[in-house]
Amino acid sequence: MNVTDAVAARRSVRGFLDTPVETDMLKDILTRAARAATGGNLQPWHIDLVTGSAMVEFKAMMMAKLLSGAMEEPAYAIYPPGLTAPYRDRRFAIGEAMYAEIGIPREDKAARRMWFARNFQFFGAPSGLFCTVDRQMGPPQWADLGMYLQNVMLLAVEAGLGTCAQECWAVFPETVTTFLGTPPERMLFCGMAIGFEDKAEPANRLRSPRAPEAEWLTVRS
Ligand SMILES: Cc1cc2nc3c(=O)[nH]c(=O)nc-3n(C[C@H](O)[C@H](O)[C@H](O)COP(=O)(O)O)c2cc1C
Repeated sequence: MNVTDAVAARRSVRGFLDTPVETDMLKDILTRAARAATGGNLQPWHIDLVTGSAMVEFKAMMMAKLLSGAMEEPAYAIYPPGLTAPYRDRRFAIGEAMYAEIGIPREDKAARRMWFARNFQFFGAPSGLFCTVDRQMGPPQWADLGMYLQNVMLLAVEAGLGTCAQECWAVFPETVTTFLGTPPERMLFCGMAIGFEDKAEPANRLRSPRAPEAEWLTVRS
């Protein structure tokens, strides 16, 4: 598989088989992804891989947390308050496209909430990661995290695995960082579900659109 094919094939997978993924394979992907470029070669990422019995334990703990109804102070604002067009419209459109794919109408808020909660079981994936970052880091270093995570997702495609980056975990930072034993100087950025795609899952039929390049590309020559 070449880079072009991997970039084209990567998409968010929101339904996984419970087939385990070899820890060595995951470690290999996470290690090779660290070839990502970073400003000043800071390599500001910290990655916790959760798999096997640790994942079973984590999911049970998360289920209890969700059932308790207890909420936490989010780690950060996932979207800017008052998000404006065209970003607001793109966000709305992908959400509606997803719920249309799985057949949950807008009025059925309870079913949408239930479906969203699958995020907190890693969509059934047997493995996942959490990415934390030193609190002193700012926007340039957070961008570096994205480069690392994109490498992970592309290498996963090459290995026949599906992924879904998940910033939803930012709403439960206390629970996640307590489980991981994250030191206080670090904060949670996001999680990522990793595993073998469940091709029977309707949500996995979703193909996200992209804005036409005329909306974001300026060429001066
Ligand atoms: C940093 C980041 C966080 C994301 N968080 C979530 C999430 O919490 N839950 C989810 O279902 N998808 C999440 N996504 C997936 C995006 O919705 C998805 O990338 C976007 O709609 C484009 O679709 P594609 O990944 O299939 O190309 C996230 C993606 C990124 C890059």
